Amino acid sequence: MLAQTPPMGWNSWNTFGPNISEALVRETADAFVTQGLKDAGYEYVVIDDLWEAPERDAAGRLAADPEKFPRGIKPLADYVHSRGLKFGIYSCAGSHTCGVKPASFGYEEEDAQTFAEWGVDFLKYDFCYKPMGVDGRALYERMGQALRATGRPILFSACEWGRMHPWDWAAPRAGAHMWRTTGDINDSWQSMAEIGFEKQKNLERFAGPGRWNDPDMLIVGMHGKGNVAHGGCTDEEYRTHFTLWCMLAAPLMIGCDVRNMDAATKDILTAPEVIAVNQDPLGCQGYGLGSDGHEGEVWKKVLGDGSLAVGLFNRHDHGRRMMPVSWEGLGIHDRRPALVRDLWARRNLGTFTRTYATQVDAHAAKLLKITPVY
Ligand code: GLA
Repeated sequence: MLAQTPPMGWNSWNTFGPNISEALVRETADAFVTQGLKDAGYEYVVIDDLWEAPERDAAGRLAADPEKFPRGIKPLADYVHSRGLKFGIYSCAGSHTCGVKPASFGYEEEDAQTFAEWGVDFLKYDFCYKPMGVDGRALYERMGQALRATGRPILFSACEWGRMHPWDWAAPRAGAHMWRTTGDINDSWQSMAEIGFEKQKNLERFAGPGRWNDPDMLIVGMHGKGNVAHGGCTDEEYRTHFTLWCMLAAPLMIGCDVRNMDAATKDILTAPEVIAVNQDPLGCQGYGLGSDGHEGEVWKKVLGDGSLAVGLFNRHDHGRRMMPVSWEGLGIHDRRPALVRDLWARRNLGTFTRTYATQVDAHAAKLLKITPVY
């Protein structure tokens, strides 16, 4: 069973766009191992669009760009597997990819077979150049069926940007394990906040083991450089972004250059107790309990051990503020003592009744685990 917890990995698009190559993917797989990403749970190394040759080969099969991947895809997938990791690739439901390369419309069975022969473990399936008059959902169903027919377990990542309400049909009808809920993220606080805080509202009931809402790939550690650069964020803002994606039970697909992470980036991306919230086996997506009227938000995610993950987010642009969280608001009996642990700091803060309050800086977040004591 694939994706029983939100998929974790890396995707080439956010930083590298068209500038991908065999060397980059190999070095990325190496960095997963040497930088502790593999140990932290990251597994899928995924190449996005523009890996393709301009035309299909003489037999009508998809082929890799001979300059970027001179030996083709199979040896690269083998290399990624040899590091104990999984390999992912990209195609599109239309006639061409968003980068105008050959895509899978009308070739679903052939392409699924090709991917299976290459050893692909993950397919991101985009939505550009859909022929007019064709039902988009049917195209995802077709590819989902073609993937299953190969007999190889291939994680199916639907990327139609939330256009056709994929939360309603992508898992049950197309067998997708995750589906994008919005348009593309860029490396800015504004883009992250709009997607993460605003556009995931009321989608939590559609997520669970094997099926996840995907608010797009992480921008942590991009620092304003790369393909979707847009001014960049501070480390504090990246920490908030990561906290939010963990609360959302979102796939954690790293978008920075993992070969060259600074210490802060690595600390964020490998924070064990924060990742544990994302990877909680119950698979409940967290949600906001509302705003305090000053751009302060308390979020709640139910965990499998009977405790709660609680995110305190200060979305205001200026100023530290005191943010209280009440047991009543969380659904814990008022007089019940509960242990409060800071998951970023990895330390217990004490046992409290009724309420807990802490200071949160502008654009910062706290992530707490609150465990009622019985
Ligand atoms: C779309 C997707 C992106 C990326 C590009 C590649 O915009 O949403 O995530 O895959 O296409 O061209």
